[in-house]
Amino acid sequence: MASTPKKQTGAAGAAKPPAQKDISFARPKGTRDIQNGEFYAYQGFFEKAAELAVYYGFKPIETPLIEKEALFTSGVGEHTDIVQKEMFTIKTKGGDALVLRPEGTAPVMRAYIEHGMHTKPQPVMLYYYGPFFRHEQPQRGRFREFFQFGLEVLGVATPITDAFIIQLAYLLLSESGFKELRVEVNSIGCKTCRPSYLKTLVAYYRRHMSKLGDHDRERLKTNPLRILDSKDPATIEFNREAPEMVGSLCEECRKHFRGVLEYLDALGIPYEIKHTLVRGLDYYSRTVFEIVAGAPPEKSEAPESGGAQPENEKPADGAKKEPSAEEEVPLALAGGGRYDYLARLLGSKRDVPSVGMSIGVDRVISAPQFVSSSPRIIKKPRVYFIQLGQEAKLKSLQVIEVLRHAHIPVAHALSKDKLSVQLAIAESLEIPYTLIMGQKESVENTVIVRDMQSRSQETVPIDRLADYVRSKMHKGRP
Ligand code: HAM
Repeated sequence: MASTPKKQTGAAGAAKPPAQKDISFARPKGTRDIQNGEFYAYQGFFEKAAELAVYYGFKPIETPLIEKEALFTSGVGEHTDIVQKEMFTIKTKGGDALVLRPEGTAPVMRAYIEHGMHTKPQPVMLYYYGPFFRHEQPQRGRFREFFQFGLEVLGVATPITDAFIIQLAYLLLSESGFKELRVEVNSIGCKTCRPSYLKTLVAYYRRHMSKLGDHDRERLKTNPLRILDSKDPATIEFNREAPEMVGSLCEECRKHFRGVLEYLDALGIPYEIKHTLVRGLDYYSRTVFEIVAGAPPEKSEAPESGGAQPENEKPADGAKKEPSAEEEVPLALAGGGRYDYLARLLGSKRDVPSVGMSIGVDRVISAPQFVSSSPRIIKKPRVYFIQLGQEAKLKSLQVIEVLRHAHIPVAHALSKDKLSVQLAIAESLEIPYTLIMGQKESVENTVIVRDMQSRSQETVPIDRLADYVRSKMHKGRP
């Protein structure tokens, strides 16, 4: 039930004006109403991304917005921030625990297993986009409902696939206006080499135990790898000297990582190896990566992988305008990696080596570099239909249908009656032609076509209208 708005008591000095949150039915914190230009920007991005994915052989998948909680506790990991703090859980009447999906990789793998996709030719390549939900503290680039576009390649272990996924993320971002991108990569090894690395890492942190904050001390027991991307300034400082995973990789992982980097070189994608990049989800093995807006390594003035903050949140570099403190830390636009063990964690009897990435679409669209592409559905109307009188109003929908079938975008204001009002709207929309239907035209089944620039006009029968308008439009006038 909605709560009643709280009254301002003003006990401590001047009463503040009522804040937005006093509106009982206001949208939940960390969510937005997306409309107008912003809506089209999202739609244009999704269309562009889907087009790229389809071109490269990906098939679409849409998984449910709700999944069983266990999918993420098992898949993403019990000790991750997502599972510990960020899931929106729904208890069903039957007592089941469902969650609003916080990410897309575990659901895609669930679908792969559930539909026996291992029987299809491998790899299975899927793309998806839509809303995801995490109960985070809303701030710049961080929402409770946010949108991702993701690609997953399931059933193949070759390093070229990792490079291919990084390349597609890079392409999508650069074609969306990001001229300078930093690709940060790391390898976090496999079951063979990671345990001994973790021992070395834990031993290193034990030596600095007194300097570790409570949170990192806790992580030492549950998830020591995550201390590498701690936010704590003291931890960041001694993370610079922490042992690096790439130095402890087994022969197979080393070969794999070298392969990924060689393919990235061959593809001309600039990257830097960031030793503290481990990502916040437990299902990764071997390659992990993030892409942030900013100069690539050779042009970058930022310190080499010194940040160790989550999602590569390092001091800004290459910024053209003076960044405010808020803007200073570039956020990851995309993140991903290989997840060779996820299938088994979700009950599969076989390994399904896989790799994927997701782009944070809200961050992309709100970035100053973003160049919007018009969605296909939005066609700028080329004609404006004006009707005068009851007879014409009755016939107007019929005329509009003729134009729709001919794929001619048309604007109109059927609720308006006055010629001057309708003409003013047409002018304000800068539409090159108006179609005018009055009493006489409706009886004669004709329409007056008026060229808004030259003011010349011609009467055209309705059954020739589409051809006539098309021929006018093809003459190249805007
Ligand atoms: P992730 O790093 O958690 O990875 O999210 C991917 C991207 O989603 C981030 O880089 C960021 O741009 C965006 N993002 C994450 N949380 C938020 C938020 N609260 N508000 C706005 N944007 C956000 C994954 O989700 C993995 N499933 C990626 C993946 C696919 N790995 C393999 N395949």
